[in-house]
Amino acid sequence: MVWKIQIAALSVAAYAFAGANAAAVTNYTSTTDPTKITIPDITQTTSHDPAAECSWYTSPYTINAAEWPTSWTIATSNGMNTSKEFTALYNSIDWTKAPNIPVRTRTAAGGLDMSTYDTANDPDCWWSATQCVKPKTADINADIYNCPQPSTWGLTFDDGPNCSHNAFYDFLEEKKQKASMFYIGSNVLNWPYGALRGVKDGHHLCGHTWSHTMMTTLTNQEILAELYYTTKAIKYVTGVTPLYWRPAQGDLDDRVRWIATQINLTAILWGLDTDDWAANVTPGITEQTVEDNYAKFIAQGSDGTFANSGNIVLTHEINNMTMDFFIEHYPAIQANYKNILDVATCQSIQYPYVEKSVSFTPFGGASASASGSASGSAKVSGATKPSGTASSAAQSSGQAASAGSSTFNSINGSLFIAALFGLLVMV
Ligand SMILES: *[C@@H]1O[C@H](CO)[C@@H](O)[C@H](O)[C@H]1NC(C)=O
Ligand SMILES: *[C@@H]1O[C@H](CO)[C@@H](O)[C@H](O)[C@H]1NC(C)=O
Ligand SMILES: *[C@@H]1O[C@H](CO)[C@@H](O)[C@H](O)[C@H]1NC(C)=O
Ligand SMILES: *[C@@H]1O[C@H](CO)[C@@H](O)[C@H](O)[C@H]1NC(C)=O
Ligand SMILES: *[C@@H]1O[C@H](CO)[C@@H](O)[C@H](O)[C@H]1NC(C)=O
Ligand SMILES: *[C@@H]1O[C@H](CO)[C@@H](O)[C@H](O)[C@H]1NC(C)=O
Repeated sequence: MVWKIQIAALSVAAYAFAGANAAAVTNYTSTTDPTKITIPDITQTTSHDPAAECSWYTSPYTINAAEWPTSWTIATSNGMNTSKEFTALYNSIDWTKAPNIPVRTRTAAGGLDMSTYDTANDPDCWWSATQCVKPKTADINADIYNCPQPSTWGLTFDDGPNCSHNAFYDFLEEKKQKASMFYIGSNVLNWPYGALRGVKDGHHLCGHTWSHTMMTTLTNQEILAELYYTTKAIKYVTGVTPLYWRPAQGDLDDRVRWIATQINLTAILWGLDTDDWAANVTPGITEQTVEDNYAKFIAQGSDGTFANSGNIVLTHEINNMTMDFFIEHYPAIQANYKNILDVATCQSIQYPYVEKSVSFTPFGGASASASGSASGSAKVSGATKPSGTASSAAQSSGQAASAGSSTFNSINGSLFIAALFGLLVMV
């Protein structure tokens, strides 16, 4: 079975929403108006059957593979560190001001090598070593790591979008529940309707890197490319330019933070980790471990642990199991917490994107008066219902899409099948 997304070769009259200065050093362009998103009424967007959802579809985006990093590889791939736009951005940054912090290395087992790091003093505010969230270098955006309101569950899902998540987004929509969604750049181009659904439904979209590599192990140039091309992909498809992001596995230090700050990105971390993705993947972590984590965190909503401030919980939309964990526990979270909120809402970030056309109601606005669990507050004016269009008719096909500049060879057959059946492991 061969699976590819063929992108309709529509001409694109790209325009930028970003300000004049930003336009000089970035190329965040889009034809999508985030307030007027239509998603076609086709099986790929309506079915709950993973095979039907993930069958080939025509997308309204022209994606010239030559203009993007290779899917799921470090974003300097495919010559993207020498493109005109990236070079302009790279040269606009005064690298002499970058913190002099080494690129981290990995152990033979693949983990981060901390053997030479001064963990006791943690000079680089390296989260992976100490869970440090307050930068020790000047002029760096500080991390967000909790929701300030008491008894608040900050709802975040990593690793989307994905072709097979209609049931999950339908569930959130039915419950009027908003979440912060951390999208991987490669996934956004692979499954554009998944990303469009996220912004159409009023979720808070953030970047989650291009290739999900541990950021501290990358060079300055690679980090910039991972952040830049992910933001560019999200903007290109959804029409919004995220100002927030999350590093894979939380791996950031002041060097990574400084680079993110140069392109106006702020990291959102977490305080509670469900380990949902790791069940039956990491030795010693089973589904029961995750059930126990949920039970513990849920109890903390009403036992006084979060009497003075809330949390942000790390969960994933990566596969059926992780989505089902959340759906199963949602009623208990509602019963034990006063608020379940996306991070833009709980942090009262009215504009989490460069574009001001999408706004979130600061906490204390609409959400405070809701009975039971408040559920987030995105206002996407003029969002429209799905409707079929000729250019987006369903087209399942076992045939490879023809190669060429209008085809994004996102993922190949065996990888797709592995992904579909949950064999692709994300750590
Ligand atoms: C960051 O934001 C500032 C202020 O809005 C803007 O001038 C600058 O161009 C932005 N930088 C990038 C890389 O988007
Ligand atoms: C781009 O990346 C390649 C591979 O990492 C490297 O050899 C090359 O020097 C980089 N080019 C520039 C202009 O930095
Ligand atoms: C900006 O991005 C668009 C879409 O990817 C592309 O067509 C265009 O050539 C890019 N412009 C520059 C100056 O790189
Ligand atoms: C997970 O798979 C089961 C069995 O196919 C299905 O009933 C359920 O709706 C799926 N969950 C989600 C969130 O897609
Ligand atoms: C596709 O599969 C081939 C081997 O079957 C592999 O070498 C290649 O890296 C894969 N491409 C992608 C994008 O995964
Ligand atoms: C996509 O979703 C499927 C099914 O939920 C999952 O098994 C797979 O790991 C996901 N793939 C990626 C790349 O997120």
